[in-house]
Amino acid sequence: MIGFRKIDINRSDWKIVMGIFLFLFASCKHEIPQPIVTTVPIDNGNGNTLPCDSDSVYFNMQILPFLIANCAQSGCHDAASHEDGVTITSYQTLMNSGIIVPGDPNDGDFMEVITTSDPDDRMPPPPAALLTSQQIQLIQTWIAQGAQNLNCDGGCDTSNVTYNAVIKPIMQNKCQGCHQGTSPGGGVNLSTYLGVQGSAIDGSLLGSVEHASGWSAMPKNTSKLPDCDIAKIRIWVNAGAPNN
Ligand code: HEC
Repeated sequence: MIGFRKIDINRSDWKIVMGIFLFLFASCKHEIPQPIVTTVPIDNGNGNTLPCDSDSVYFNMQILPFLIANCAQSGCHDAASHEDGVTITSYQTLMNSGIIVPGDPNDGDFMEVITTSDPDDRMPPPPAALLTSQQIQLIQTWIAQGAQNLNCDGGCDTSNVTYNAVIKPIMQNKCQGCHQGTSPGGGVNLSTYLGVQGSAIDGSLLGSVEHASGWSAMPKNTSKLPDCDIAKIRIWVNAGAPNN
């Protein structure tokens, strides 16, 4: 960090100071206006405000949401069912399940079951889709980095909220595990634009993620989405849920 030094200005220094001001003022006039980026702090639930480091994997922000969506359904690894003694509802329950050896992705059953091609062993079991290769890669890196429970504040850029770049990835990572296929949760299919648009228009999308009364709180069985995701969904819904 750079410290600040107290600067005493005496009379003869004023000319220099004014000169600097004039220079700055003159150079400002020629600046091209920059787009305004609105940022709101991300709520990680633990008050951590360290900036995010792109080399680190942040379990709660990057991994837990898609594990909940793909593994924590009723009858699988939610708290009530805990198939094979494995509960995947939080960092602590996952670590207590004994299927991850911090620092060694090749040990422990977790990497094995999400990467095996044997349909009898693989997780999630068929007909559910496998985790994506990016998701598997992220888990591997996270375990190799010591399977830590790191949190950070990544800021929140809400300047360009489009369906394809912003809303669709939120749905894919945090909702689709339960909201796709032939019998999606609550009959709500969030794997297509039309499905998401339908929920946006009837108010259920925003109502459920904001935990508003009258709607089922989503994502089910876990904590609220980060404030940043909710802010983006709100902006997109209020813009008329465009297919952009
Ligand atoms: C673990 C499974 C699961 C996850 C993850 C999940 N949902 Fe749901 N969702 C359900 C089920 C099951 C229902 C049916 C209502 C109920 O059981 O609460 C439902 C219902 C809904 C409804 C209808 C709510 C109502 O009151 O009519 C909406 C909208 C919805 N989900 C949106 C989402 C969104 C958006 C996400 C991601 C942020 C999400 N869900 C994540 C399982 C899930």
